Amino acid sequence: SLVTSKHLLLNALKGKYAVGAFNANNLEMIQAIIEAATIEKAPVIVQFSQGAINYAGIFAIKSMVGAMAKYNSIPIVLHFDHGRTVEQNIKCLNSGFTSLMFDGSDLSFTENINQSKILTQIAHFYKIPVELELGKVLYQGVDNNEIINTLTNPYQVKEFIYKTKADSLAVAVGSVHSQCSSETQLDIDRLKEISKEIPEVPLVLHGSSGVDENSIRDAIANGICKVNVGTCLIKRFSESVKNYIQLNPDVIDPRKYLNAGKEEMKDEVRKKIRLFGSSKII
Ligand code: G3H
Ligand code: ZN
Repeated sequence: SLVTSKHLLLNALKGKYAVGAFNANNLEMIQAIIEAATIEKAPVIVQFSQGAINYAGIFAIKSMVGAMAKYNSIPIVLHFDHGRTVEQNIKCLNSGFTSLMFDGSDLSFTENINQSKILTQIAHFYKIPVELELGKVLYQGVDNNEIINTLTNPYQVKEFIYKTKADSLAVAVGSVHSQCSSETQLDIDRLKEISKEIPEVPLVLHGSSGVDENSIRDAIANGICKVNVGTCLIKRFSESVKNYIQLNPDVIDPRKYLNAGKEEMKDEVRKKIRLFGSSKII
């Protein structure tokens, strides 16, 4: 069934596991995520960026996820990922998304608080939770100095949460978006300091495709309750489709090659769910 992320993440915090939040762009990716979570008996977050919404259409997304969730007993969240403006978030709220994110990581501390507050006030009226970001999880291609300069400052988190009333907080602790290497080590000491300041707030890890598995386990033991995964899923999806077409150059039925992509992605989502400790939670 379609649920909000509020209790899912609070339960994860209590149980010291994390809920997987997987990025989708089309029907087959949504199916892969929901089917994988169903087999694993895990709660799951299906998330869409503004780019995904531009591609698939907000009503098609809501309809597909809503219909699949309606006939499924596992808890499924429809989440807006990296919303850059309050307006985009309000559109998702109006369309039936059950979890929002305002990404004010490019703004100053004060401006991030001001804009975030506008959204939390509106969303909370409708009982929809909001994820915010403090510090900035950068994108591939940056050097180490830039990463260090944008890490979350543990001494700012308490004030930020108090003023914004965020339901969960995305933190920058060394990960970078769009990597596939699985070699990045997180700054676990910093994460510990952050969760010591705000122990009651579920923390969110972005850019998880590039993070070492043991580092992810350590992060979950120290307050990370939602782990966002995108790049390694689309990589496996696309590699499988390309491979299928190469081996079967005469096939024109898109169901055949897209299914190959879907099955590979499903396998990757299942692996992640087990790594995050959310398998057999339901
Ligand atoms: O918000 C989305 C995630 O942070 C995905 O990051 O593509 O590096 O796994 P990733
Ligand atoms: Zn992200």
